[in-house]
Amino acid sequence: MMELLASIHCYFWSPSRTICLWMSLVLLLQYSKTVVSKSDYLIGLGSYDITGPAADVNMMGYANAEQIASGIHLRLRARSFIVAEPQGKRVVFVNLDACMASQLVTIKVIERLKARYGELYTEQNVAISGIHTHAGPGGYLQYVVYLVTSLGFVRQSFDVLVDGIEKSIIQAHENLRPGSIFVNKGELLDASVNRSPSAYLNNPASERRKHKYDVDKEMTLLKFVDDQWGPVGSFNWFATHGTSMSRTNSLISGDNKGAAARFMEDWFEKNGIKSSDTNESGSDGLPRRVSNIIPNIHDDNNKLLELATSFRSSPGSPATQTMSVARRVRGALKQAEKPGFVSAFCQTNCGDVSPNVLGAFCTDTDLPCDFNHSTCGGKNELCYGRGPGYPDEFESTRIIGERQFRKAVDLFEKASEQLKGEVDYRHTYIDFSQLEVTLTKVGGGSEVVKTCPAAMGFAFAAGTTDGPGAFDFQQGDDQGNPFWRLVRDVLKTPDKKQVDCQHPKPILLDTGEMKQPYDWAPSVLPIQILRIGQFVILSVPGEFTTMSGRRLRNAVKTVLTRSGNGEFGSNTHVVIAGLTNTYSQYVATLEEYQVQRYEGASTLYGPHTLSAYIQEFQKLATALIKGQPVEAGMPPPDLLQKQISLLTPVIMDSTPAGKNFGDVSSDVPANSTFKRGSTVTVVFWSSCPRNDLLTEGTFALVEMLQGKDTWTPMYDDDDFCLRFKWSRPSKLSPQSKATIEWIIPSSSSPGVYRIRHFGASKGLMGSIRHFTGSSSAFVVA
Ligand SMILES: *[C@@H]1O[C@H](CO)[C@@H](O)[C@H](O)[C@H]1NC(C)=O
Ligand SMILES: *[C@@H]1O[C@H](CO)[C@@H](O)[C@H](O)[C@H]1NC(C)=O
Ligand SMILES: *[C@@H]1O[C@H](CO)[C@@H](O)[C@H](O)[C@H]1NC(C)=O
Repeated sequence: MMELLASIHCYFWSPSRTICLWMSLVLLLQYSKTVVSKSDYLIGLGSYDITGPAADVNMMGYANAEQIASGIHLRLRARSFIVAEPQGKRVVFVNLDACMASQLVTIKVIERLKARYGELYTEQNVAISGIHTHAGPGGYLQYVVYLVTSLGFVRQSFDVLVDGIEKSIIQAHENLRPGSIFVNKGELLDASVNRSPSAYLNNPASERRKHKYDVDKEMTLLKFVDDQWGPVGSFNWFATHGTSMSRTNSLISGDNKGAAARFMEDWFEKNGIKSSDTNESGSDGLPRRVSNIIPNIHDDNNKLLELATSFRSSPGSPATQTMSVARRVRGALKQAEKPGFVSAFCQTNCGDVSPNVLGAFCTDTDLPCDFNHSTCGGKNELCYGRGPGYPDEFESTRIIGERQFRKAVDLFEKASEQLKGEVDYRHTYIDFSQLEVTLTKVGGGSEVVKTCPAAMGFAFAAGTTDGPGAFDFQQGDDQGNPFWRLVRDVLKTPDKKQVDCQHPKPILLDTGEMKQPYDWAPSVLPIQILRIGQFVILSVPGEFTTMSGRRLRNAVKTVLTRSGNGEFGSNTHVVIAGLTNTYSQYVATLEEYQVQRYEGASTLYGPHTLSAYIQEFQKLATALIKGQPVEAGMPPPDLLQKQISLLTPVIMDSTPAGKNFGDVSSDVPANSTFKRGSTVTVVFWSSCPRNDLLTEGTFALVEMLQGKDTWTPMYDDDDFCLRFKWSRPSKLSPQSKATIEWIIPSSSSPGVYRIRHFGASKGLMGSIRHFTGSSSAFVVA
């Protein structure tokens, strides 16, 4: 610093001297900025539970009216990062364990952030993205099409998302500290296949030849390193659908990406970055997180049994402070001031990408489905994609999750390219229902085409090999659910203009022109670019197919790197954040659109939808590079007040005479010893999980005995090995049971264990009472 000062001489008096002094000051500031901190950014991460109602609510994704939540496989979380220049701009990225972002959720989160922080966080610099799990509660979107199978809007699903996203951003904000960010990339070959290869093949051969695979195999990872605490988290983007869990699964789950996040956070809590051993989840893939911190107090099996017999099942009893009683494993492990490690597995251009890597087969013949139509003897409902754990969907989820987790750990440990440069962003709202798009013709010259109001083609109703035969959308259908009966009368016949515009898509539902009882599909969509140095995120409100994603990334990269100002070099990284800020289904290429498979049929705004995106993103990228503002555009509507909800509330809960909530209905066998790898099942008298979501808590807990009478939490309902299943004997029964299954990880320590259940019951007058119960103790040998 002194050298720099000494080297500055201002020989002349004013006015030149003033200029000289001023320039010296600028130089000094620049210099101090580079030496004061080894990092250029402030970074902060956060994470919050968004699991939602684990009963009665339809799951979002497969549009299967019979897929109703009834328990938890994995909890869902909102994971956020904030990156800020110390004196400059900042960006926020939120990754949701949800099927997709929702316009209404985004609007309400931004409203809350503005109320809390003024103009610090707005729609401009906040991106909210979904991982595309098909195993999360639905009813949180605002457009009619996405609410049909959920019987309309579900307030509880919506609220838990808005609350959880806000809380995870608050955490990230409060964690903001000097730190650095590193980027790394690598190929992951065995976690994805193209599920519409016949549509992909319609893309030009010259374009296909540039790519080795018909899906993007690259994972791109950001590693966040706090100057003082070291690594605090990572976010990565990799394209594969959240459809390892099937359309008949009823347990809430983050699917393969949720599982990967759980594995990686647990891996870090246990290992930090000290070890390069990525076998953390053991050969059975079950996390070994806490086992090793518990001293192995008893090895003698007889002694353990003796000890276990002294703990009989404890009857249901009030749990007044549920949160602290239902103490979760992860919370218990967190060190005092240092925030927990946050690892997010984000979605990108997954439109035609399936995790069911074994291929699609007919359930009747076991033969591959028809290549062009994914049918079996002409029927689509028999053709199913198979995951690597087939026929066990949990196993498929674990394997695809674990493959992403291992690749992410590998990239994380080797990440060395540091992000450098400005933080910036651009955001605009575009009306996609009538956008003029200028196309460059092959022989030169240009042509102006238009997008169309949204519409869904017939192939949409056929679904995909990940979930065939989706909506029962048939004109004149008088079956369907009450919500469908309410809205179907407004089905509109498209006029010639719309038919021509959407050609060759045969229109099943003219959603863009259906406005009763409220909008069926979005027409205004947000698009956004976030920049952190040489790393650029493109927020797209839909599912881009593989080739669509490549075209968009290339177009933006070309604008950035050819700008001539040298800010973006060959190390420019462009990732697409799929299903972000709102949802508008698929984006296929013009050529894929001609084939009209599911992805083309679900490309809402006609054949030029992708070209429209490319044109508008080029404008954003140009503005970014030139430092110019962009027009805000007309914001989409807020339809909260118009929402209709037909899901019935919980009336009341009850137990049979002589039983309390939390009493064990089926205990572990007396004096039993379980081997690792086997399953312990306990059934409790319970109540509807909708009475209290136990957000940041747990419905199920495995505890291990330490010493003579201290029970330590080991696994909760966010662990892969623990399943909380809830059921009623009949639809209208006030009685219900919770079945808790623990598949004992091979990494568990021998010892005395018990299983506990937590819940909240509703009385006839509406009062909510928390309760807990416990199984008898048992031995794991
Ligand atoms: C991981 O586990 C597999 C199978 O148990 C073993 O073959 C491999 O060597 C292990 N890798 C490491 C890094 O320990
Ligand atoms: C798929 O369709 C294309 C174009 O119609 C045709 O050339 C091809 O033979 C079909 N493939 C199969 C396996 O049916
Ligand atoms: C369980 O163990 C206790 C104490 O050792 C014994 O009294 C009891 O009979 C055993 N029960 C069964 C079912 O084996």
